[in-house]
Amino acid sequence: MTERTLSIIKPDAVAKNVIGEIYSRFEKAGLQIVAARMVQLSRADAEGFYAVHKERPFFNDLVEFMISGPVMVQVLEGEGAIAKNRDLMGATNPKDAAPGTIRADFADSIDANAVHGSDAPETAKVEIDYFFGESGLCPRG
Ligand code: PPS
Repeated sequence: MTERTLSIIKPDAVAKNVIGEIYSRFEKAGLQIVAARMVQLSRADAEGFYAVHKERPFFNDLVEFMISGPVMVQVLEGEGAIAKNRDLMGATNPKDAAPGTIRADFADSIDANAVHGSDAPETAKVEIDYFFGESGLCPRG
């Protein structure tokens, strides 16, 4: 089934200058980049995006990290795009990520773990809307 998913290249990977390498992995896996924008998130933007995690102990660190520099946000489209992107990303903690995954190759720690990807169709829709919807953070034009 053709799906869309939201992907974020986080500040650590943007700073490492590996946007192109990560895009190449998406494309080689058959995912198309159908929308993209570089954004400097405000604290309110990051808190809104991660609102489901606000009770978790790492919430403040996660928000702090996500506003530490620009992020590259994209919508990926393709067959089983959500699972395919999660496979490319590897486990949340790079120590557990399989060799050859984005996190194994580019992430330094569970805090600075290079990429985000939606985990289910419902969250993909909400997250795509958050950035690319009618009143999202990445207006077209
Ligand atoms: S996941 O990928 O959503 O299944 O992972 P989860 O464990 O639920 O984590 C949700 C997001 O929080 C980040 N995270 C952390 N950040 C900082 N410190 C610690 N210890 C930590 N643990 C998890 C994790 O990278 C997820 O961020 P996103 O952007 O969704 O990948």
